[in-house]
Amino acid sequence: MTRIRIAPSILSADFGRLAEEVAMLEAAGADSIHVDVMDGRFVPNLTFGAKVIETLRRRTSLPLDVHLMVVEPERYFDDFAAAGASGLTIHAEVSPHLQRQLTRIRELGCLAGVALNPSTPLNVVEDVLECLDLLLVMSVNPGFGGQSFISQSIARISRARRMLDGARSAAALEVDGGINRDTIAECWEAGADTFVAGNAIFSAPDPRAEVGALRAQCARRV
Ligand code: DX5
Ligand code: ZN
Repeated sequence: MTRIRIAPSILSADFGRLAEEVAMLEAAGADSIHVDVMDGRFVPNLTFGAKVIETLRRRTSLPLDVHLMVVEPERYFDDFAAAGASGLTIHAEVSPHLQRQLTRIRELGCLAGVALNPSTPLNVVEDVLECLDLLLVMSVNPGFGGQSFISQSIARISRARRMLDGARSAAALEVDGGINRDTIAECWEAGADTFVAGNAIFSAPDPRAEVGALRAQCARRV
């Protein structure tokens, strides 16, 4: 049976207490830590680079799921892999050589992911599925935490699920943006298996319990 994977995004964490936040997520049963790298060009916001990934790597044994919201992502592959990223997910909108880029990510020992903005057709990855370990369907326009889930994402997840199954791909199907107790179960039913959540976890009265609460929303609908 497919496992429900919860990947909390540290974008919404208290950066002054990053080590404690990561320990809390680990104790809460998170499956990985989602690290949102933004360059102020592909998206308006700026976040963090290899140094933070290296710091996180020393603090947790959880996989580090690095989401690169940057132009020319290949410029960062070597540094981020060396810093301890477990997976590198690049945006198709800024990756004209997906086959080469994904192959390079795997060569560096990382899982290779592609993220698609809400307006990007799913078929841009159709011919590189054999190079793909993770498909990330964005359910908001990337750049900021705490945005509202775009409801059309459910139909995109269903279509992505059919595409992956049709190609017998074992790639994870991840959804990112506006995931909370109200939106997660529908995404799970549509075929997603990996759920990024930032605001829902870190603004919850009990962030540690929220990881389990999100998982439970899906498990109820198995
Ligand atoms: C959006 C980022 C997300 C974001 C999710 O640009 O890629 O990972 O942190 O945050 P929430 O769960 O708050 O929408
Ligand atoms: Zn993200």
